[in-house]
Amino acid sequence: MSAKDASKTAIEPTLDEAIKNRHSTRKFLPTPIQQDLLITALQFAQLSPSNSNIQPWHLTVVSGQRLIKLKAALNAAATKTNPNIPPLPDTFSHFRTELGYQVYGVGMGIAREDRESRREAVLRNYEFFGAPVVGILCMDKRLGAVDAMGVGMYLQTLLLELTKVGLETCVEVSVAGYPEVLRSELGIGDELDILCGVAIGLEDGEFRANELRIARQPIEKNVVFLEK
Ligand SMILES: Cc1cc2nc3c(=O)[nH]c(=O)nc-3n(C[C@H](O)[C@H](O)[C@H](O)COP(=O)(O)O)c2cc1C
Repeated sequence: MSAKDASKTAIEPTLDEAIKNRHSTRKFLPTPIQQDLLITALQFAQLSPSNSNIQPWHLTVVSGQRLIKLKAALNAAATKTNPNIPPLPDTFSHFRTELGYQVYGVGMGIAREDRESRREAVLRNYEFFGAPVVGILCMDKRLGAVDAMGVGMYLQTLLLELTKVGLETCVEVSVAGYPEVLRSELGIGDELDILCGVAIGLEDGEFRANELRIARQPIEKNVVFLEK
């Protein structure tokens, strides 16, 4: 059943539709989500493939009072210090510039030179854009890139399953920039690397930035076909 309309029989989107419909939501409604929808999505995500079936994902799901407290702690940290996120190599930085223009300029109507408004908008990351439920996705520190692929597959499956039932999401590396806050607030041990957060909820349909559909490059930019 869809979260958007639990009273009607919802027509489930096809896989193609779920892939196309999924997008990053940057303003949620405070409406709580149905726990059974989340549990079902988590059960499907659990079917994701991984190296030697080690199932390297570890997700801490936070809501209610605990989330309110987490947001306050993240916000306090983010207003004091910059997040510890490795910079992008120069050859990729134009993607971030273009995305920033789309999200903050086109979507939120913030002028490039309006640094204060942009700063406030960026700080919304640490409120998880108002989402009522968030996940903090981790992986055992001893694992490497191959296993991070497994965690990525888990995350995408989770996002698609949530999309299928009308829930929206935003993956957030920004919150992983304050690992000490997440560890102390959520009891995440040093044996885990914190990879990202994921905000989950119902979308605020009035917020223009939620209507953005960020374009992708043609496949030729990412794929080579070799025949001879
Ligand atoms: C690993 C990862 C980290 C991300 N971190 C953030 C973030 O911190 N804040 C944010 O607003 N969006 C974040 N995003 C969302 C991306 O900006 C978004 O997926 C991309 O621009 C494509 O847009 P779409 O998700 O709407 O298709 C992240 C996405 C991924 C997969």
